[in-house]
Amino acid sequence: MAEAKTLSEAADELEFRQMRELGELMVYRSQINKLADGEWTDKGGFSLGPLKPSLMGEDPRLPKMPEKPTLIDFFKLRFGPSKQHLLQSAALAQRNGLPEKMVLACLLHDISVIAFFRPDHGYWGAQMLEPYVDEEVSWAIRMHQALRFFPDESVGYEYPEAYAKRFGADYRVDPYIQRDYDYARNHRWYMSARQICLNDLYAFDPDVTVAVEDFEDVIGRHFRQPAEGLGNDNTPASHMWRTLRRPANAL
Ligand SMILES: [Fe+2]
Ligand SMILES: [Fe+2]
Repeated sequence: MAEAKTLSEAADELEFRQMRELGELMVYRSQINKLADGEWTDKGGFSLGPLKPSLMGEDPRLPKMPEKPTLIDFFKLRFGPSKQHLLQSAALAQRNGLPEKMVLACLLHDISVIAFFRPDHGYWGAQMLEPYVDEEVSWAIRMHQALRFFPDESVGYEYPEAYAKRFGADYRVDPYIQRDYDYARNHRWYMSARQICLNDLYAFDPDVTVAVEDFEDVIGRHFRQPAEGLGNDNTPASHMWRTLRRPANAL
């Protein structure tokens, strides 16, 4: 019981802080937000709580977005500093002489990690991008998640040392990762997904700053920016961009 009370007190405190931050507006967090912070309980009963004005629409705590946001607007106004990983990866792909389509794939390969969900980031990222990029680009982004764990001597790709440090020397991939690797290994676009891994490993330099504007032309030629704005359009992924634009909407 003591634990439940503490959690409930913590929730009240958080609620109060958020209300103060947003005047009288309530900001609610969904379960997946709480789970990411290691918060879980099924104690305390179920209640909708008091009906108070809730945040819907633009979030006053975040930079204001244009009415018709572009991919570059999302880079500038919603992605955090770790977007440098994407930008450096794309710059490396360009230096390595990859085709523009693959430069775009590298530019967007971890879009989910840095802006949306970390778990299963290849799959989420591909889903966000599918309506706007060449099929090969989203396929490669989906599959790079699995390929990252498997070496390919023919192109000099070794199992990342960092993974052994982060996940343990005895880490073994989940069965679905093994399954998707086996599938991708024999696919005609295998090398496109592998290229993402090859231009990914070294794209973590804290002393290098790459601007998204450097890729304005590549984006212009290979990303189908909807005229009405990302999220205002009507594709199977529009809602994901709307969520990114207004991440704390009550519904
Ligand atoms: Fe990745
Ligand atoms: Fe990456």
